Amino acid sequence: MSSSIAAPGRVKEVTSLANPIIKDIRLLEKKRHRDETGTFLAEGMKLVIDAIENGWDIRTLIYAKAGKGNEQIEALAARCLAKGADILIVSEKVLGAIARRDNPQMVMGVFEQRWTDPASISPDEKDVWVALDRVRDPGNLGTIIRTADAAGAKGIILVGQTTDAFATETVRATMGSVFAVPLARMDEAEFSTFAKNWPGMVAGTHLKGAIDYRKPDYDAGPVLLLMGNEQAGLPDILSEACSILIKIPQAGRADSLNLAIATGICLYEIRRSALTFDGAS
Ligand code: SAM
Ligand code: CO
Repeated sequence: MSSSIAAPGRVKEVTSLANPIIKDIRLLEKKRHRDETGTFLAEGMKLVIDAIENGWDIRTLIYAKAGKGNEQIEALAARCLAKGADILIVSEKVLGAIARRDNPQMVMGVFEQRWTDPASISPDEKDVWVALDRVRDPGNLGTIIRTADAAGAKGIILVGQTTDAFATETVRATMGSVFAVPLARMDEAEFSTFAKNWPGMVAGTHLKGAIDYRKPDYDAGPVLLLMGNEQAGLPDILSEACSILIKIPQAGRADSLNLAIATGICLYEIRRSALTFDGAS
């Protein structure tokens, strides 16, 4: 059952781990509870402010008792309270229990998840989207979200059973980019249809790809870049949905590149002419 975290817009001091509000927040460690409540946890002042500035809805702001009197924290709390969020001022022990580690961040926020409806994706000429087939590793997914943000990709599509974009570890690895890059989800069959209807190149990455990733003209229309699962790579049903299969050449003894690294290399090549130092895109 999902349970509401507290009545909106109230300030509470909590020191007990037995407090039901705290128990509920601690359950956000579990994907099932994140899914049920449609919420997730973001840790640290920077992430919480990034989220709010990008218009994400905060349900609960949590901060350490030691933060009382801190101007920046109190200003943030006033802002969240005005948005209808609850404020929890908690002991060090409670904070550590929520973060599940020592030396936790002083500030944390419970936010509402946001997913882009696949039907609303209608790419412009210069847009690049990244699709990830069954990405498993939270660090990889977080790094890819961060890199997609930096490279100016328009969004990320999670295909099939993937690691959760809103897991604390993933959110942490994005360094705030999770609040800037639209995320959508599809199963394999939906993605095949989506790829077939894509009004431009669908570039799959494959160790058996016949085309050097530096060869295609990526500026001819919107590009959909598809990356394979860490262990298995792309299954046939997905590679068959691509218009080309590209490969990054390799020297040395490594069989393949790390998924996040391969994504970064391809994205920067695809965005080569769009990205300049003067900020023009
Ligand atoms: N064992 C897998 C295979 O045989 O396909 C390797 C998977 S690799 C670790 C994970 C993903 O990273 C691949 O599916 C592909 O999307 C991308 N990748 C890694 N190295 C690559 C390369 N040299 N060229 C193109 N894509 C690569
Ligand atoms: Co519940």
